[in-house]
Amino acid sequence: MEAPGNAERTGRFALNLAENLDELRRRFDAAVAGANDEQALESVRIAFLGRNGDVTKVRRSIGTLPASQRRDAGKTINDAVAAMEGRLDEAHTTLQARAFESELAASIDVSFPGIPPNLGSIHPVRRVIEQSCAYFGAHGFAVVVGPEAEPDYYNFDALNIPSDHPARESFDSFWLNDTMLLRPHTSPMQIRTMQEHRPPIAIVAPGKCFRRDAVDARHLFQFHQVEGLLVAEGIHFGHLKGMLTGLCRELFGSDQRVRFRPSYFPFTEPSAEVDTTCPKCKGSNSPCNMCGGSGWIELGGSGMVHPNVLREVGYDPERYSGWAFGFGVERLALSRYEVDDIRRFVNSDPDFLTQLA
Ligand code: DAH
Repeated sequence: MEAPGNAERTGRFALNLAENLDELRRRFDAAVAGANDEQALESVRIAFLGRNGDVTKVRRSIGTLPASQRRDAGKTINDAVAAMEGRLDEAHTTLQARAFESELAASIDVSFPGIPPNLGSIHPVRRVIEQSCAYFGAHGFAVVVGPEAEPDYYNFDALNIPSDHPARESFDSFWLNDTMLLRPHTSPMQIRTMQEHRPPIAIVAPGKCFRRDAVDARHLFQFHQVEGLLVAEGIHFGHLKGMLTGLCRELFGSDQRVRFRPSYFPFTEPSAEVDTTCPKCKGSNSPCNMCGGSGWIELGGSGMVHPNVLREVGYDPERYSGWAFGFGVERLALSRYEVDDIRRFVNSDPDFLTQLA
């Protein structure tokens, strides 16, 4: 038999190549379709496109082709490889999506209880302020708020504490300059209110106060007070006692009692410190870590507004009289919630704060 001519031989090679690739491609497609995970897919890639893969072997056979055909054959193989790589990518994406879906299906349990959203809670100090204001509001008192930085006039002079008065020392203050300070109490609001309005005056003034106190279980350098002031004709100490007893019952329970201990404040005369029956031991005199066994806890200061203060704001002390008080809100909250350390109110621990909600 006559040996095939060049052209014929080349045609046969080309045909073989195409056949080979078609056959390879069928096997490849079947293998890809059967690969159920990434690892199987990778084995398919190696078997066909790897260094010793079937396609690579075919590529090597190009060398046996006549030079004139190598370019076309190379292109045919390159196209086939590109198509196979595309197919592998597709399969890879499909596998990933399938894996994600089955993971999702395995992790979703529709009967599982939902995660409740964290709604937060009102801070216990804020709650005591709100409750105190609501109590006084229900008795016709207005709630007023004022500046946290005050001139010494409102903070001291007008409250009958002239610059040489030793009581200034007891308010260990943060001074901003020679005359301005961060208020160490809410009493300046008495002056601001009385200067703006004529009697009768009935206000509560909650707000922040600042003192250069070392921080410990009972002291913060920034805290809150609630101030109260009632000025009208015929106001007497009994009114003060009645209102503060009512406040303590509102905050601590229905059987609270209130005790007034004689004291001294420059802006009241007479002055008294106010105690209420210990909300924990109820004054039973048993050993109690809240009141130290005395049966009473201290809330703050109070008294009948000093005539000098009334005169300072242009009120006639012969005609008008009034009472005032100032309580530490954190102190109220400590007692109310039976908390052992005042610092807990400022360390932003939601586990603690939400317990008191
Ligand atoms: N401002 C006082 C203080 O912080 C407390 C006080 C005492 C307020 C007597 C008053 C009052 O309104 O009448 O120590």
